[in-house]
Amino acid sequence: MNVSVIGTGYVGLSTGVCLAEIGHQVTCIDIDKSKIEKLNKGISPIYEPGLERFLQKNINTKRLSFTTCYEEGLIGSDIIVMTVGTPQGPEGKPDLSYLERAAVDIASHLNEDTIIVIKSTVPVGTNNHIKEIIDKHIADDIKVDIVSNPEFLREGSAIVDTLKADRIILGSNKPSAIAKVKELYSTLNIPILETDISSAEMIKYASNAFLALKISYINEIANLCELVGADVMDVSKGMGMDRRIGESFLRPGIGYGGSCFPKDVLALQHSARDAGMTFDLLSETMHINNLQQLVLIEKAKNRFGELKDMNFAVLGLAFKPGTDDIREAPSITIIQELIKSEAYVATFDPAASNNMEQVINHDNVNYCTSLYEAVENADALFIITEWDEIISMDLFQVLSLMKQPVIFDGRNCLKEEQLLECEKIEYYPIGRPNLLRRS
Ligand code: UDX
Repeated sequence: MNVSVIGTGYVGLSTGVCLAEIGHQVTCIDIDKSKIEKLNKGISPIYEPGLERFLQKNINTKRLSFTTCYEEGLIGSDIIVMTVGTPQGPEGKPDLSYLERAAVDIASHLNEDTIIVIKSTVPVGTNNHIKEIIDKHIADDIKVDIVSNPEFLREGSAIVDTLKADRIILGSNKPSAIAKVKELYSTLNIPILETDISSAEMIKYASNAFLALKISYINEIANLCELVGADVMDVSKGMGMDRRIGESFLRPGIGYGGSCFPKDVLALQHSARDAGMTFDLLSETMHINNLQQLVLIEKAKNRFGELKDMNFAVLGLAFKPGTDDIREAPSITIIQELIKSEAYVATFDPAASNNMEQVINHDNVNYCTSLYEAVENADALFIITEWDEIISMDLFQVLSLMKQPVIFDGRNCLKEEQLLECEKIEYYPIGRPNLLRRS
């Protein structure tokens, strides 16, 4: 099939590359000229395992191309996939302006009937709103059907998530349009759920908010474990063994971040409010997450009292491993708190330092290129992101370089056996009060 993908962000690029990989002829359109130039050379603007390899391979086989020109990009398109971003607007509602603009651009350049698939995460009603915009700007003799097809890929595993998704959701009131989009995915062997448009739109928000809720729940259980002397890692494992609960998204830590969960929980709350309902569970999910991002700072204050003039190593800046994305990352809150306390910060991240430097540029913050440089002379270290490089650091060397052997582990990622081997260590994980006193 000939497919046009509008927008080359995370979702657009992964979708475009994967659709080309499974044999479709794909043209990706984006208004960002420099991005398109890079992409045509096979250079990915985002850090995503496997993406650049697929990108180059499919450009070479001429199944994948990139353009800034709608006219060129829409020629002969059987299906147009809209993946433009819906960032958080000023009041916390999704900003639909990019999507609306793309809808006008598509409509004004369309010469034949087509199907438009909307993958962007949008509140209930948006697919119909976009259809109205398209109908308003399209030539009289052309017809467009809309299919809502929300995307569930995660950063860091975008390619695998696209090719091996748990489900494909297709929402439309036109069976013929659904049949055509099913064809697009036919080689993937992924279960497909057909729904109406509103339900498809809701599935995306309901899923993300539920996962965020699960994380906030286990984080509160972790906090309670600390007070009553239980080990949250065992509790989480025991809970996850119940198939009705499931083991994923039960890892306690310093809260969720990223470009989706914080935005989507807030957007769902706005949808609820607009519909006349208060969805208190969502407010609590967000409130718990905000407090959880500060849990390591609280632990440090309990341990040291004043943090002024102390040296802290912050290991990991990205909102999770495998990405250079720092959007809504707990590291931002933590570093800002340390700056406020007039402490000194040395950071290390294998991928996200440059991005963080654009956001926090302060005399007290030093961005190091090596983990061992960051921990030198530190009074304590904070583990923020569970990168492999950080989990497998040489703990003996790290402790020997530090001024004091104090570790606050925000991801419970250091190995118990290794910790027990260290003679002098003060270790503060999340929700594991008795860890080093066990043996
Ligand atoms: C998420 C959804 O998983 C994906 O389906 C959707 O399309 C986009 O949003 P992503 O933001 O890439 O994906 O990251 P994800 O791997 O889901 O992690 C989100 C955050 O939750 C991270 O900050 C992570 O550290 C945190 N997390 C995740 C936990 O704290 N505990 C867990 O058990 C799982």
